[in-house]
Amino acid sequence: MAPSPGGELELAGARALVTGASSGIGLEISRCLARRGIGELVLVARRRNRLEALAGELAAAGTTCTVDAVDLSDPDQVAGLVARQPRVDLLVGNAGFGWGLPFAQGDSELQCRMVDVNCRALVQLCRAWVPGMAERGWGGVLLVGSAAGYVPIPAMAVYSASKAFVHAFSEGLRAEVGSRGVRVHLLAPGPVATEFSTVARPGARRTPVALSSSPRRVAEEGVEAWLAGEPERIPGAHVRWGVRGLRVLPDPFLRALRAAAFRRLEAALGRRP
Ligand SMILES: NC(=O)c1ccc[n+]([C@@H]2O[C@H](COP(=O)([O-])OP(=O)(O)OC[C@H]3O[C@@H](n4cnc5c(N)ncnc54)[C@H](OP(=O)(O)O)[C@@H]3O)[C@@H](O)[C@H]2O)c1
Repeated sequence: MAPSPGGELELAGARALVTGASSGIGLEISRCLARRGIGELVLVARRRNRLEALAGELAAAGTTCTVDAVDLSDPDQVAGLVARQPRVDLLVGNAGFGWGLPFAQGDSELQCRMVDVNCRALVQLCRAWVPGMAERGWGGVLLVGSAAGYVPIPAMAVYSASKAFVHAFSEGLRAEVGSRGVRVHLLAPGPVATEFSTVARPGARRTPVALSSSPRRVAEEGVEAWLAGEPERIPGAHVRWGVRGLRVLPDPFLRALRAAAFRRLEAALGRRP
């Protein structure tokens, strides 16, 4: 594998592992890496049947794929994954979920599992493979955060906080290993049309299609920015400007806005049968 310190990352000969490859953004990132000629792909999620279907599709187009079905909320299963996959050159830490309910009504076990999948597993996986990348002087990490990591959302307090963790973690990691040939990229999408909202708010109204990005587009934009060495990408101009606009508003105004949004949500929940 040829390192290319200044230009795009060379994918031929590289071994990439994608978490959350069974659906949505992770599935599209896997397809995107395959289209760009990745040497080998390791596909990770819980739903083995879906991973095998994707591996079959990509293998038919010439990409070598391995399926490793793991529940990332379980640290022992994550350790097992690491033991089975000793070398990873490019890590896509994408698996994650959110749950949209007022904090006090949320299932405590699920809230903690969200932190395990969205944060703890990422730390475990990066700790396992990033030192090797830095030693070899070549590698990459793409972490999937969220616009909610910049702008906390009421009724998604744990989710927003877990994504703020991902953002801060990617910054710190980049500062440590960026100069040693490891490209750390943060992909922070706004609403994307995936199974995420079905998982996050069962039965809730979906984000209007006009405001959602397609997972393929998000994946393409993120992978291109990552391989080109950009530190961070918020896909979609409307989301990018929305996040930038909100971030320059004064904190007291944002707090009032958040509190008002939560009151409206509580009222709406109260009207539910
Ligand atoms: N969609 C959005 O609006 C949006 C916006 C911003 C950020 N994001 C972030 O984008 C990432 C991908 O989400 P998505 O939109 O593509 O949603 P998705 O379609 O629901 O995909 C989530 C992926 O994570 C995997 N996953 C969830 N829990 C897991 C566990 N315990 N162990 C292993 N894998 C697990 C799922 O696989 P299995 O169920 O097969 O395990 C699935 O492949 C997430 O980190 C999410 O927070 C999404």
